[in-house]
Amino acid sequence: MTLFESAVRPVLFRLGGGDAESAHEFTLNRLARLGGPARSMLHARYATKAPVELFGVKFPNPVGLAAGMDKNGVALPAWPALGFGFVEVGTVTAHAQPGNDKPRLFRLRDSEAIINRMGFNNAGAAALAARLASLGPLGVPLGISLGKSKITPLDEAVHDYLTSYELLHPYADYIAVNVSSPNTPGLRTLQDRGAIAGLLGALVGKTPVLVKIAPDLAETAIAEVLEVCLEFGAAGVIATNTTLARDGLAPADQNRAAEAGGLSGRPLTERARKIVHFVHTETDGKLPIIGVGGVMSADDASRLFDAGASLVQLYSGFIYKGPALVRAAARASRAGRS
Ligand code: FNR
Repeated sequence: MTLFESAVRPVLFRLGGGDAESAHEFTLNRLARLGGPARSMLHARYATKAPVELFGVKFPNPVGLAAGMDKNGVALPAWPALGFGFVEVGTVTAHAQPGNDKPRLFRLRDSEAIINRMGFNNAGAAALAARLASLGPLGVPLGISLGKSKITPLDEAVHDYLTSYELLHPYADYIAVNVSSPNTPGLRTLQDRGAIAGLLGALVGKTPVLVKIAPDLAETAIAEVLEVCLEFGAAGVIATNTTLARDGLAPADQNRAAEAGGLSGRPLTERARKIVHFVHTETDGKLPIIGVGGVMSADDASRLFDAGASLVQLYSGFIYKGPALVRAAARASRAGRS
């Protein structure tokens, strides 16, 4: 057991009477306030060099922070210090929005899982652009995840994404088009062939654009998305977002199974790996893949790289295992390739 698991996690998990969102807010605030010396100490401990170059971008190591953790980029300088080789901020939307009613974030501890129905709570694309303009260089590549504002009708989605894109692409090493959150009504229909073609037609050009897909798509539907990605010059695919399935929950967490929202963590590991493998074989390895979903150990990371991911991201694994997992996963990538 690491120091994080034995000493830090129990304190964080008890904050706010065990309310997961309180712990999240507290941790982000603390990370945002870390000073330079603290960041240097963490960096010395956790940062791993395992360089990768993908779609013209150089990554110091292939383990990134997944979207949703730091939606508004409030703690940006902390993430490279914790060992991440890249950071994906967002998902942000063209209009600032509060997200769904609380509670909307649940830990399923025995399952090493999370259910969330945040609903893209974020300060909006313009606020993120202002924040990024005021920050110096991050030192690692920055991805920016874009979603559709809740108030924007689905048939005006392209304009909504484009508004965010124009504000934010100058700061991004890549743009993630999030069409796979289960928590914005109708969003996942933007994964349909015509809709994704419309989006990519409008967005591909100045900055590499990757499409983030849901783990609940059938293979035929994924194959269609991939065709459109290749046709419109997408830089890659991010696989996967959270799932609507409720398989793999521990008995103690069954009472949470009916909570609406997306499930992440251990129950998603195998599904995400299968989808990464499918994308890799279906495209003959031609479309770079960021693998994400249930990476809870260095071994999970290795297996996702083996399945065809060039980069991986962590969210739930970081919540349960802390920064030692970032380092272990980055080292696993190096071991796998040398
Ligand atoms: C997410 N995820 C997510 N994804 C995204 O593209 N945009 C977002 O805003 C969010 N928000 C978000 C909030 C919370 C609380 C969680 C737990 C997750 C999905 C995340 O990036 C990742 O794809 C999944 O969580 C699967 O990875 P893990 O958590 O199993 O490592």
